[in-house]
Amino acid sequence: MALREILRYPDPRLRKKALPVARVDEEIRGLIRDMAETMYGAPGIGLAATQIDVAKRVVVIDVSADHKDLQVFVNPVICERSGVFGIEEGCLSVPGVFEEVERAQKITVRAQDGSGAAFELVAEDLLAVCIQHEIDHLDGKVFVDYLSRLKQQRIRKKLEKQQRLAM
Ligand code: NI
Repeated sequence: MALREILRYPDPRLRKKALPVARVDEEIRGLIRDMAETMYGAPGIGLAATQIDVAKRVVVIDVSADHKDLQVFVNPVICERSGVFGIEEGCLSVPGVFEEVERAQKITVRAQDGSGAAFELVAEDLLAVCIQHEIDHLDGKVFVDYLSRLKQQRIRKKLEKQQRLAM
């Protein structure tokens, strides 16, 4: 297992659209293990492969209090959405920024798990928001894209400054 570097907004590589995974093989299982380790190490509650510069449709999530409920989504697709819900979202690619975004409150998602088996899941509230946020990453979208242009500029400046100081 290995910790992977997490790309920081506004890195243009976060804009790449991830490609479907043809088969959950040993390479994908290795990717999933690295993603889980990277997410837990950060620490965070969700990570999309896009954030570690891998253009594959793989997401890991753990919204449990004790960080022992890893959920893996390979090729996730939201097939139903209803209601409106918003919480202050954060993102490992946008450290220190928390903003509310309007999301569906309840979704039905279809995906494959870490062994390649297909499953369907109905998710609500925090888990639903997290899944929507991570699937956005796979499509090259970051949650700050939903904010006003002024807020986006402020966040961009803040992160660019942080990165200069971190060098
Ligand atoms: Ni994120």
